[in-house]
Amino acid sequence: MADRILVVDDDEAALEALQIGLEAMGFEVTAHASYEGARAALADRSLALMVTDLDLGAHSGLELVAQAGEQDPELPTIIVTGHATVSSAVEAMRAGVWDYLLKPVSLDELEVHARRAIQHARLSREVESLRQAASRQLGLDLAGSSPAMVELRDMVERVSRTDVGVLLFGESGTGKEVVAQTIHRHSARAEGPFVPVNCAALPETLLESELFGHVRGAFTDARKARRGLFLEANGGTLLLDEIGEMPLAMQPKLLRALQERVVRPVGGDEAVPFDTRVIAATNRDLVEAIAQGTFREDLYYRLNVVQIDLPPLRARGNDVLMLAQRFIERFAERHGVSVRGLTPEAAEQLLRHPWPGNVRELMNAIERAVALARDELIDIADLPERVREAERSRMDFAADNAEDLVTLEELERRYIARVLEATGGNKSQAARLLGIDRKTLFRKLKREEAEQDDEEAEGPTSEG
Ligand SMILES: Nc1ncnc2c1ncn2[C@@H]1O[C@H](COP(=O)(O)OP(=O)(O)OP(=O)(O)O)[C@@H](O)[C@H]1O
Ligand SMILES: [Mg+2]
Repeated sequence: MADRILVVDDDEAALEALQIGLEAMGFEVTAHASYEGARAALADRSLALMVTDLDLGAHSGLELVAQAGEQDPELPTIIVTGHATVSSAVEAMRAGVWDYLLKPVSLDELEVHARRAIQHARLSREVESLRQAASRQLGLDLAGSSPAMVELRDMVERVSRTDVGVLLFGESGTGKEVVAQTIHRHSARAEGPFVPVNCAALPETLLESELFGHVRGAFTDARKARRGLFLEANGGTLLLDEIGEMPLAMQPKLLRALQERVVRPVGGDEAVPFDTRVIAATNRDLVEAIAQGTFREDLYYRLNVVQIDLPPLRARGNDVLMLAQRFIERFAERHGVSVRGLTPEAAEQLLRHPWPGNVRELMNAIERAVALARDELIDIADLPERVREAERSRMDFAADNAEDLVTLEELERRYIARVLEATGGNKSQAARLLGIDRKTLFRKLKREEAEQDDEEAEGPTSEG
């Protein structure tokens, strides 16, 4: 189908010349001599380009450009004028005009500019629609409408456009691997491999050859040379999972590889360059690990160009129910049963449970419930015992009897303990949840320890 061009010129002879010329090039032309007529013609959504005279009597071609921008921001426009001035040219460029040509316009010149403008607009429309499709896909992979998930998706989308190192931090089962894969699939490396490796699963020597490869005969079992995962993931993404568990002796070797962008296979002295994006994931508080001397600070800063914190499931509000519904549909289909939803009581219970195992725990609970359900709707009785037992109030500070009431200090102590429990002992995360800095939290915990020590020291004398 021929591209349609709207041509506007109040000089009828010039208008006709442009129309004939453009039609001869194979374009379809809608010609208008008046501003009003042209303005009405802009409603036509099939336009590929507008070519307008600058001086339209009582109106300016730039007014039309503004109108066009409102109707279709992607429609390219070319201004032709017999009275070029620097200020009108500047104004035209500011208005987003694609080209500014002087009369008399040679048809050859006009054709070149017209085709380029149309081509450019087509590409930018395509890019935009791909981008929209990608963010729709992102919404499917990392579904959820809670503020925590909206923020996570935004971060993942921004990070995907870059090639920087990412550290994923979150409790077990929050979807760190899902996020790593999502970043990979939305990045320029999507066509390359995605290779996950669990750093906790192997002792130092095996991990080194797993990551960097080895030459033939490097050790007793090395009958064949191996490339190693850094090179397996070349052109793609390597996920260093459970990085917090990486043996200390291995850490400087990893740091060196990341800094020099080369690996040295075990048993060889050749340095092999790699082109691999590295994403690291951990459920351990690395800042604390550094303080304890089990994780190198320099490696931490190298890996952690951008840190993404995955929200625990209990911080995602009603997303719990949305995920539950998806899992119900998935498992009902897989197991060929007709379960299709939750009773209100079961839904309430899912919202009440703190989900220490996060999305993985929810998925397992739903699979079990779908398999066991006696009805089309999952009820409380179909949920695992742990989930069933979640108490109405997640904290039992609100005592009914006066003698059970506690001091503010004691309340604080218990609440800190509760938050630490919820974060799996992660002090950085606990401090964030409590809205205090880590130092303050440490101080409070120290004070508590000291008080407990005092009590123990006093204990025997008072008793006997
Ligand atoms: N948003 C989500 N939608 C659907 N499934 C999800 C989502 N997030 C996580 N899951 C599922 O939950 C399970 C746990 O996710 P994943 O393995 O990515 O977690 P993790 O943070 O890496 O946990 P761990 O620290 O235990 O390795 C997986 O089966 C994953 O498919
Ligand atoms: Mg994982």
